Amino acid sequence: MMEPITINGLKIPNRTVMPSMGMAYTSDYTLTDRFKAFYRERAKGGVGLMTIGPIAIDKAGSAPFMPALFDDQYVEPLKNYIDELHRETETKVANQLIHLGRAAFSMVSGVPSIAPSPVPSKLSGETPREMTAEDIEGVQEAYVQSARRSKEAGFDFVEILACTGYLISQFLSPVTNKRTDAYGGTIENRMRFGLEVITRVREVLGKDYPLGIRIAGNDFMEGGHTNVESGIFAAEAVKAGVDAINVTGGWHETYVPQLNTSVPPGTYVYLARGIKEKVDVPVFASNRLGDPYVAERALRSGACDMVCWGRPLIADPELPNKVKEGRFDEIVPCIACNQGCFDSIFSASAVFCVLNPRAGREEELPIRKTKNPKKVMVAGGGPAGMEFALTAAQQGHDVTLYEKEASLGGQVNLAKASPGKGELGKITDSMRGRMNRYGVKVKLGTALGTETVEEEKPDVVAVASGALPADISVPGIDKPHVHCAWDVLMERVPNIGKNVVIVGGNATGCETAHYLTAIGTADPAIFTFLMYHTAENPESAKKLLYNSGRKITVVEMVTRLAGNVGRSARWPLMKSLKMMGVDLRRGAKLLEIRDDSVLVESEEGQESIAADTVIMAVGSRSVNELAAAVMTEGVKVITLGDAKEPRKLTEAIREGFEEALKL
Ligand SMILES: Cc1cc2nc3c(=O)[nH]c(=O)nc-3n(C[C@H](O)[C@H](O)[C@H](O)COP(=O)(O)O)c2cc1C
Repeated sequence: MMEPITINGLKIPNRTVMPSMGMAYTSDYTLTDRFKAFYRERAKGGVGLMTIGPIAIDKAGSAPFMPALFDDQYVEPLKNYIDELHRETETKVANQLIHLGRAAFSMVSGVPSIAPSPVPSKLSGETPREMTAEDIEGVQEAYVQSARRSKEAGFDFVEILACTGYLISQFLSPVTNKRTDAYGGTIENRMRFGLEVITRVREVLGKDYPLGIRIAGNDFMEGGHTNVESGIFAAEAVKAGVDAINVTGGWHETYVPQLNTSVPPGTYVYLARGIKEKVDVPVFASNRLGDPYVAERALRSGACDMVCWGRPLIADPELPNKVKEGRFDEIVPCIACNQGCFDSIFSASAVFCVLNPRAGREEELPIRKTKNPKKVMVAGGGPAGMEFALTAAQQGHDVTLYEKEASLGGQVNLAKASPGKGELGKITDSMRGRMNRYGVKVKLGTALGTETVEEEKPDVVAVASGALPADISVPGIDKPHVHCAWDVLMERVPNIGKNVVIVGGNATGCETAHYLTAIGTADPAIFTFLMYHTAENPESAKKLLYNSGRKITVVEMVTRLAGNVGRSARWPLMKSLKMMGVDLRRGAKLLEIRDDSVLVESEEGQESIAADTVIMAVGSRSVNELAAAVMTEGVKVITLGDAKEPRKLTEAIREGFEEALKL
């Protein structure tokens, strides 16, 4: 990974690429200080090729949340910034020329969206206007002029976006290209628009300038391109003049998860391999390669020549340098939760990161050494407590963290239990590694009590003692077959029956249902084994994936299940629950728990649902008694995270970080 590579004369110091990511750190197409600070920190972190992008080539195909190059006025500020990056770092700077086509939101761009054909977009809900011959010429010219300006601005590399269900891929795919002219019909015709763009851009850049393209190795759209058609396009793109191919997968409308925690690391490397077999230029692999060992393996396998780290570099700008220096236990991992990045972008807000509270606030929130070290005690080793302890120690305070359980993590240990979420355990691993590096003393199996505070006389006590499951009062709640979801997720309930009713359909209830569906089904390793040895035919092996042997019902009072799960994690979760046959009862209220059933009430009236196990997932309540108990003179008490108010991981970490900065 740390070996250099040369692409059309451009020597890139290592094999890591920060792919294009719309961060929404501008609102008027200009380069802001926030934008610059974000990328400056990543360049200093050692990434080989950093894409500052996407870049708007015209208004119809973009949004003001990205920098633009559709006018000469945008060149100089970019040039000054890129010159600065070149002076200060070894990182090579790329951009990505984007046209969203039918995926543009006209409300945001202020211009009606255009596309090869008037096929409605599920993303924007709009039906684009079919592009005329003049539109085609106009958009191609916009690519050309933006490419010319990219060169003038000093970019080292230009990438043309031809995936994700944006304009060029809309031309490529029969799903969105219904044209009957020279740009529609056969694959040769559908490739024409993209290939003409490449040819014209190559012409304006000259032959010695590095030009790349980003394609989907598979659209994962019914009737769309697979790795076969993508391979054909890749080979033609090389003939038309590209020097490198960045291979991602899927469109925004795809129903195969591309980016969330459930996508096993390295899943889509095979797409890059499929393209590499068809071309003789460097190929970049993408998606879920943040684990450096997985990335290194992808490179060593020969499937790709460079690896993309998108969200992993949002989470940890220093990732390349940490890998280079072997500081693996200090890496802040991307857990692909998407809560701060993808979910923000799709609600038109600026990107933040759950695990890196400084992302997008680099200038505002530097971590500085204190001149006045304090003695700090932290009660609770969940995310809020660990982040507080870590940030305090990074500033030079003397920090001891007390955790009453035998291990760190708090509610992360619950969150990581359900299928495909094991990676959340990396949160704890990373915080443990970093606390160790910065000298936090960690006392496990030790609850911080008033006596210790009186004895040790700290300057600060941070109460981050988390939360406990909330209680509700309903007839039958004390019956022996009633358990709380947290105990189930922690595997403290050995005798779960065949007819399970989960009360509460928020994140915890739905995740508990998902967890239960996975017990007794074939896990990925078993499935692979059966397939590898042709022990079962694919159809019967597939059945083993979907049969949990239990009847699981989720009962929720409101109509929206998993309402507190982020947008990009919610649909795969709901998809899994449906595939696994979980009975989802919305608008249903629990009235009574009986020995073998529960009585619920909905608009349709009262109903009894068979239940030999009832699992309560009805929220949580803060645990913070220590705060009042240690409120003695001279001790500053700070209550953090769920101990202050039960919320999500984002708030816990952000609060731990920000409160520690105030010390
Ligand atoms: C907030 C956000 C914005 C993105 N915007 C773009 C984009 O404009 N163009 C693009 O090609 N990919 C975009 N992506 C996809 C990333 O480039 C990358 O392919 C994806 O995050 C998967 O890689 P990762 O697992 O390393 O993050 C975006 C991703 C995120 C998280």
